[in-house]
Amino acid sequence: MEVVAVSGGFDLADAALVAGVMEDLIPAPGSEEAVEAVDSAWLEVAGFEGKRGQTVILPHSEAASLVLVGLGDEVSFESLRAASGEAVRKAKATRAVSLLARTGLEDATRAVVEGCLLGGYRFDTYKTGDDSTRVERVEVVGADPDALARATILCEATNLARDWVNTPAKDESPAAFAEAIAAEVSAAGASVEVWDRSRIEAENLGALLGVAAGSDRDPRVVISEYTPQDPVAHLAFVGKGITFDSGGLSLKSAKGMEEMKVDMAGAAAVAAATVAVARLGLPVRVTTITPLTDNAVGGDATRPGDVLRPVDGPTIEVTNTDAEGRLILADALGLARRYQPDLIVDVATLTGAAHVALGDKYVAAFASDPEVTERILVAASRAGEYLWELPLEKDYRKFLDSNIADIKNSSSTRYGGAIIAAVFLSEYAGEGPWVHLDIAGPSIARETSGEQVKGGSGVGVRTLVELAQGFSDMPRA
Ligand code: BES
Ligand code: MN
Ligand code: ZN
Repeated sequence: MEVVAVSGGFDLADAALVAGVMEDLIPAPGSEEAVEAVDSAWLEVAGFEGKRGQTVILPHSEAASLVLVGLGDEVSFESLRAASGEAVRKAKATRAVSLLARTGLEDATRAVVEGCLLGGYRFDTYKTGDDSTRVERVEVVGADPDALARATILCEATNLARDWVNTPAKDESPAAFAEAIAAEVSAAGASVEVWDRSRIEAENLGALLGVAAGSDRDPRVVISEYTPQDPVAHLAFVGKGITFDSGGLSLKSAKGMEEMKVDMAGAAAVAAATVAVARLGLPVRVTTITPLTDNAVGGDATRPGDVLRPVDGPTIEVTNTDAEGRLILADALGLARRYQPDLIVDVATLTGAAHVALGDKYVAAFASDPEVTERILVAASRAGEYLWELPLEKDYRKFLDSNIADIKNSSSTRYGGAIIAAVFLSEYAGEGPWVHLDIAGPSIARETSGEQVKGGSGVGVRTLVELAQGFSDMPRA
């Protein structure tokens, strides 16, 4: 789908005309002429009340159809984005003309573009015989061209991450995923290096190798580098790339394993964000490290009680092979630290506990200091993503004490699992500024609604790009 800006004199023939209506049928600002001709009795019969995301399709004298979409009780970024998402999915036309950017809201263009491109996303690589009419082009009346171009890059990166998450693990081995990342990063004009097993051995990434030991598919590490001229800051992104999480010998249940192709969503998010930062040409250097491996069950799989040696930092007794994300991140954070960046951000589908704590919508965020907390919260709010801080509680470190090694990978208490996982990671992130984002909850959209489409959500991509943008706008002294 493409979204383009148009000004006056747009062509309505064969198009679905999209206009917003507020609750209680007050026409949205900017859409009066479209709604004027509508007989409110029709709306009543259709049960249309203008509730957020509600749609009704009506005949129109000039356009092929009129799609009215509810904005609820306010014109906001979220209501416009949700309305645009519903409208592109419901319109039975190949072309749509949207009046929704004319509401006077500053971010209206971005909201409409996000609604259309994210809400109109489909993953149909594995579907056969679907020839239903869908919107291929949206003309947004009164859109701001710069805002549209920027939002398009952000949405395309989000959809790239979604494609990667939705691809079945069978077709996305560590090697295949590494190649896909390398191709996208290079196409965006950044450089990339892929480490194979022998290089990973030479670099002493013992924790990653320990997780990979149970799989017939070799691990990879992808290191992407985007270096603009005169960067104002240097960020390191680290993403968990478990291409499938069976749990290892501490095997998951059938139900617990069902969605575990998603376990590379952190790697997908940081890689796609790097692509977007490069395409936008932001003046921030970004180094992105994605360790990739299956967590599988094989004859030489790591056993509970085994001890792993990461490249740097404490030795690890593996008491539960299903707590594998923190193992590969220990190595990747060790690598990231060597660059001495201004900030390390890791993104990971790390714990079911984060999902339990904050539900499907919220990313759990942990930060090394309040300045960093502020940066990530501002970035998420600019991005229109939902993020909530949890404490990095040092007192919980005792639950990771090991008898024979420096630390163990799974806690001796069943409480506070997301926090204890973050405390584990803090041992490897070093002393510098660091943020950990646990995306286990929102990595998958469980229903189609607004800009969300059931499946991989691409969460984190837009927050990371806004974080880089934040450094560009307010460089440090
Ligand atoms: N990949 C899972 C976490 C997860 C759960 C992601 C649900 C997405 C949706 C992670 O590797 C895991 O298995 N975590 C364990 C940790 C435990 C063994 C300490 C968990 O959360 O149960
Ligand atoms: Mn696991
Ligand atoms: Zn996992």
